Amino acid sequence: MVEPMGNAGRFLVEAADRLGVRLYAATHKDVHEGYPQWLRAALAGVCATDLTDTPRALADMDAFCRQHGIAGVAPCFELFTPLAALLADRIGLPGNDPRLARAARNKIEMGEAFASAGIPAPRWAVAHDAAEAYRVARAHGLGRPLVVKPAEQGGSWGVSVVDGPDGPDGPRAAHGSDGPEVPERLAAAVDAARRFTHAHPHGLELDTRVLLQEYIPGGEYSCDTVVAGGVTYPLPVVAKDTTEGRYRIETGHTCPSGLPAPLVRKVQHIAARAALAVGVRNGIAHTEMKIPPGTETPYVIETGARLPGDNLCEVVEAATGVSEAVAHLQAVLGQVPDTVPSRTGAASIRFLLPEHGGVLRRVSIPDLPGTHGEVHLSPGAVVPEPADSSCRLGHVVARAETADQARGLAERVAARSRVEMG
Ligand SMILES: Nc1ncnc2c1ncn2[C@@H]1O[C@H](COP(=O)(O)OP(=O)(O)OP(=O)(O)O)[C@@H](O)[C@H]1O
Ligand SMILES: [Mg+2]
Repeated sequence: MVEPMGNAGRFLVEAADRLGVRLYAATHKDVHEGYPQWLRAALAGVCATDLTDTPRALADMDAFCRQHGIAGVAPCFELFTPLAALLADRIGLPGNDPRLARAARNKIEMGEAFASAGIPAPRWAVAHDAAEAYRVARAHGLGRPLVVKPAEQGGSWGVSVVDGPDGPDGPRAAHGSDGPEVPERLAAAVDAARRFTHAHPHGLELDTRVLLQEYIPGGEYSCDTVVAGGVTYPLPVVAKDTTEGRYRIETGHTCPSGLPAPLVRKVQHIAARAALAVGVRNGIAHTEMKIPPGTETPYVIETGARLPGDNLCEVVEAATGVSEAVAHLQAVLGQVPDTVPSRTGAASIRFLLPEHGGVLRRVSIPDLPGTHGEVHLSPGAVVPEPADSSCRLGHVVARAETADQARGLAERVAARSRVEMG
């Protein structure tokens, strides 16, 4: 596993147990020291390297793989999925196309890959600063609202939805003596997107260019695809809820999606094409889409060559019996993945978000039958303003017979949860 820290790690550990597979991790020494106990205990060995130094990491991991008879490379942490593709290629194991793999990490290269493959996706442009953002958004007619996001990041960090260059965007901030006057909110959004020069916790240097995208209205969905030997196996479609307004934070997910069957198949088809477009050949891809009202065209917002976060592995398995983590491991081992649903239930997850940032005094999630809750932060923790997913206080997962029941149950638990902030 090339960096298993993060939400999918625990599902990979369970999956490996079921498959009788031994797991090894490639990571940094200090990052490994911060792993939770269950993850450390699940590992048969660790390749301590510097994942930000590609030649060194490849040499270290190559030697480690040979020494331990490694049979498959599982990409995990999104920013290192291209590195996993390079490693698999170098040692002759099933993996993703190393020539395309950067497109699964960098949203500018992703936009290019989607355009060459004819994938429906938002129109976009690139900017280096606010004045350029204003100019190119105008030149490309990206209008209002406008989505501003970092080229490389996740968790909705640095993503803002603002009025475009022609929007009634309040006060204007002068930029340079003869440059255009850039609306203040656009300038702030560009600053927010450029804030990330290095990724936590490995210190990987990020592309600080800013991506400007046309805003796609409508319902939001995700669909994962397992690819094995270049053959795509669609996974269930999940409906996503987010906050409205400037910051879009995922507030919950429900499986099944509630879409009619023909549209489900269309979403799965577009997700599979998006996965192939970013070079996924052996492994899983997580694709997010929006469907404008009154249309049946899913627009791809992004694809990652990794398992989903947000406990989606749990939600999908609770609803359908399909373990995405098992399927991912099978694919990277060159096996045919198990992707056929074995049940027709439903599950929904809701995240508890604070109304504002501050110090967490208390959070409690009631226990209702068919649900289980988990608190993410302890009292005394400093909670950031609700601008991205790092502000989440906890979550609840509900299982039921139908999607509406599961969502309703999870919403009831979330509504009865108590949060006190100082
Ligand atoms: N072009 C767009 N049109 C409409 N909404 C968008 C667009 N781009 C992003 N969004 C909204 O912002 C959210 C975060 O954007 P995006 O998925 O690109 O960033 P991210 O940091 O990779 O997110 P995450 O890791 O949370 O999935 C999306 O889930 C969606 O709600
Ligand atoms: Mg996303």
